[in-house]
Amino acid sequence: MAAPPGKRKTPRRLARWSELRPLLRWRPLVVDGVDRRLSRAHTIADLRSLARRRTPRPVFDYVDGAAENEIGIERAYAAYRDLEFHPRVLRDVSVVDTSVDILGGPSPLPLVLAPTGFTRMMHHEGEIAVARAAARAGVPYTLSAMGTTSIEDLVHAVPGARHWFQLYLWRDRDAGARLIERAAAAKYEALVLTVDTPVAGARLRDVRNGLTIPPTLTPRTLAAMARHPSWWFNLLTTRPLEFASLTSWHGTVAELVNQMFDPRADLRDLSWLRGRWPGKLVVKGVQSVEDAVAVVERGADAVVVSNHGGRQLDRAPTPLELLPRVVDAVGAKAEVLVDTGIRSGADLVAARALGASAGMVGRAYLFGLMAGGERGVCRALGILEQEAVRTLQLLGVARMADLSAGHVSLRDRGYGRSR
Ligand SMILES: Cc1cc2nc3c(=O)[nH]c(=O)nc-3n(C[C@H](O)[C@H](O)[C@H](O)COP(=O)(O)O)c2cc1C
Repeated sequence: MAAPPGKRKTPRRLARWSELRPLLRWRPLVVDGVDRRLSRAHTIADLRSLARRRTPRPVFDYVDGAAENEIGIERAYAAYRDLEFHPRVLRDVSVVDTSVDILGGPSPLPLVLAPTGFTRMMHHEGEIAVARAAARAGVPYTLSAMGTTSIEDLVHAVPGARHWFQLYLWRDRDAGARLIERAAAAKYEALVLTVDTPVAGARLRDVRNGLTIPPTLTPRTLAAMARHPSWWFNLLTTRPLEFASLTSWHGTVAELVNQMFDPRADLRDLSWLRGRWPGKLVVKGVQSVEDAVAVVERGADAVVVSNHGGRQLDRAPTPLELLPRVVDAVGAKAEVLVDTGIRSGADLVAARALGASAGMVGRAYLFGLMAGGERGVCRALGILEQEAVRTLQLLGVARMADLSAGHVSLRDRGYGRSR
C-alpha cells in the first residue's frame, strides 16, 4: 500500500567529493587587521558598529549623539526610511553616470563631506585622512573652524583637492576675518557659514559622559583606557590634540561654544562676510523658507537645509521634508544642499530627486574614520557610491542628473508641513 501523503521517503545517497569540491570557496586570507575589519562592513550601519567597538564610549557618543531627547535626528532617519521610490522599468541602465555639478565644479557623486569639529579625537589621522579619502573620491571636503588641522596644513597635505572651509560667527570678528583671509590665501573654493549655533545645543550624552576637550584623565577615563588601549596609545603618541584655529581650550564643547559664538549675530553680519569673501559662499543650517530667501538675497551662492545633525534645536524641521519648499523658493537663484540623517547612497539619490544639488554627510564618514582611519573613510564613500549606483539602476535612471521629483515621494507623517 502506498504511504500517505507527507510520509513518503525521499531516496537518499552518500554525497560525492566530486560534487562537493566545486562548491568549496575559500575566502582569501586578509592579513591586515584594518582591511579585514573593513571588508566585513557592507553598510554605514556596519561601520557604525565597528566605530562603537573601536573608540571609548564618550567619543562614540559625541559623534553618534544629538541634542536633548534626540527626536530631531530620529525624525531625520525616519524621513529617509519612510520615503517611497517610484521606479521605471525597461530602461537601459547598463551604464550609469552618477556625476553632477556642485557649486560650478564636477563631482562624481552628489556628495559633500560636512564639517565636523575635533576630528582627531575620533581617530588620530583626523582631518587629513578624511580630506585624502575625499580627494580620492573627487568630492569636496569641508574643514571645520573647530577642526584639529589648520587651514594651511590641510592644503599642504592634500593639494589640488576641492577644499571648503566652515566658519562660525564668533564674538571676536577680527579672529573670524583672519581665518577668512587665510582660507582665501590657501585657495579654498568655498566658505561655509554655519548659522544654527547662536548657543550650544544640549548634547546630554556628552554631559552625562563628562566629555571635555581635550579628554581629561579621570578614574573613569583611565578605566575606559584599558578597554581601548590602541585609541589612547594613538592619542598620546601623536601631536597634541587641540583646536587648530582657536586658542587652546580645556572644558566642555558647550562651554566653548557659549564663550566663543556670538548670539547677537544677524543678517548684517552675513553681508559683512559676503563683502570679505571672494569665493563661493554657502550658508549652512537654514531651517525655513523665509530664511533661505533672506540669505540668498544677501549673496549666498548656496544654502544647506540642515539642523546640524539634530545636535542643536531638537524637533527643528526635518531637513529632507523642508527641502522641496526651499528648492521651490530659491532654487532658481542658488544651489540647495541638504544634510542630517543621510546614511546610504539611496538617501543621496532621494535627496537629489527632491531638488538638492548634493547631500552633506557627517557621521557616515566619521564612523568610517573611527573604524579604520583613511581606509575606513574610503570604505564609507565606496559604500555610498555602490548604493547610489544600484539605486539608480533599480529606479531605471541612467544619469544622476536625470532624476526628478517623480522618482520619490515623502510619506506625510503629519508634521513639518505648516510653513
Ligand atoms: C561629531 C560632529 C561634529 C560636528 N561639528 C561641526 C562643526 O564643527 N561645524 C559645523 O558646521 N557642523 C558640525 N557638525 C554638523 C555636520 O556638519 C552636519 O551638519 C551633520 O553631521 C549632518 O548630519 P549627519 O551626521 O546625520 O550626516 C558636526 C557633526 C558631528 C556629528
